Amino acid sequence: MSKISGFSKLTKLEKVDWITEHYLSHYPKAKTIIKQYWNTDEALQKLHDEFTENTISNYYLPLGVAPNFEIDGKLYAIPMAIEESSVIAAASKASKFWLDKGGFKTEILGTTKVGHVHFNFSGKSQVLQDFFEKIKPQFYKDTASITKNMEKRGGGIKDIALIDKTESLDNYFQLYCTFETVDAMGANFINSCLEQFGQTLEAEAKTYDSFTSEGNYPEVIMCILSNYVPECLVRAEVSCPVSQLGKTQEEADQFVRKFSQAIKIAEIEPYRAVTHNKGIMNGIDAVVLATGNDFRAVEAGIHAFASRKGQYSSLTHVKVEDGLFKFWIEVPLALGTTGGLTSLHPLVKLSLAMLNNPSAKDLMRITAVAGLAQNFAAVNSLVTTGIQKGHMKMHLMNILNQFEANEKERAEAVDYFKTNTVTHSAVISLLEKMRS
Ligand code: MEV
Repeated sequence: MSKISGFSKLTKLEKVDWITEHYLSHYPKAKTIIKQYWNTDEALQKLHDEFTENTISNYYLPLGVAPNFEIDGKLYAIPMAIEESSVIAAASKASKFWLDKGGFKTEILGTTKVGHVHFNFSGKSQVLQDFFEKIKPQFYKDTASITKNMEKRGGGIKDIALIDKTESLDNYFQLYCTFETVDAMGANFINSCLEQFGQTLEAEAKTYDSFTSEGNYPEVIMCILSNYVPECLVRAEVSCPVSQLGKTQEEADQFVRKFSQAIKIAEIEPYRAVTHNKGIMNGIDAVVLATGNDFRAVEAGIHAFASRKGQYSSLTHVKVEDGLFKFWIEVPLALGTTGGLTSLHPLVKLSLAMLNNPSAKDLMRITAVAGLAQNFAAVNSLVTTGIQKGHMKMHLMNILNQFEANEKERAEAVDYFKTNTVTHSAVISLLEKMRS
């Protein structure tokens, strides 16, 4: 293993040579594999190379489609980028199930995004408060060139508040700033505003008498948006008479009883809630990725939201009242449909076009629905057949692919595992038998 300085300055080919020579010499196929994934269209490849630093190849994920989603009366085929087998099949099953039951209904509960200037101040809180009230208009003036275009689009800075956090941490104050970023995810806009607020705060403080007389000034620690966006919130719901949830009333009642209890378990038991919400994220992340949004931001924000009451809990809820079954999700989603990757990555553009170029609000609705559908499908399987049946079918295909099974071997294997349990070793021994 070797060290290198100036790796980023090497050409792509030099990087490939260096990494294969120093870290992959035991892996003879390395260079071929790296190059196999390069796009033959040079301009397209260059575009991908430049998304990030030190690119050596492309990393594919399948882009699939889950059709038949009726959302607020409109039909959608939802693009999903995900490697996990069964997720798209499950989403498609859920969309079809709800299609003739009124589909999915959604509501945007808020679109406010948040950022902070975190700073220290060891003087009197009241002095800082007076200073803040005096200079507050200056924050808006100093960011006018940054906010101009966003304001034209209907967004901008919503408010700036001074928060005293000294009870939790000595000398710690913050500017708690809220933003509307319309169709942009808005990270650059928010961070640019915040950094300007930080500069304004320090510059104005330098000439403020009460600070100069004490020799005590606010000191900015950092300026950064928060990925916790509990007020950028969407709700998605399905509902139908209980009787539609089974072939007989008895079957429907049993399903609703078990399904509701499964949701309640996820509400009170963090071990289950994490897996339950992971299933929801199977749907959410796949749409977030396909549409070029930041899945790490979405993940972090959603899990914080799931813990907002002090214990990690389910994002979905259920209610059965007067014979009506209602199942819903409330989830914070700071998404964008303009800017960033959305205008650069051809497959992201295609995914957004497939969704009829939605606004950020519409993408929030669609993404929340994908999460709810995924959860419905997962819990449905869990309380009825179990999930292994479906999973193992896909698992079998993956193992057959791994061992490059031909058509005849595939057909025989599928037939054999209709009545036998799929395990890695069972598939291998069957292939060995067929091949001997
Ligand atoms: C697997 O990716 C997701 C599930 O475990 C979700 C769940 O348990 O609800 C099936």
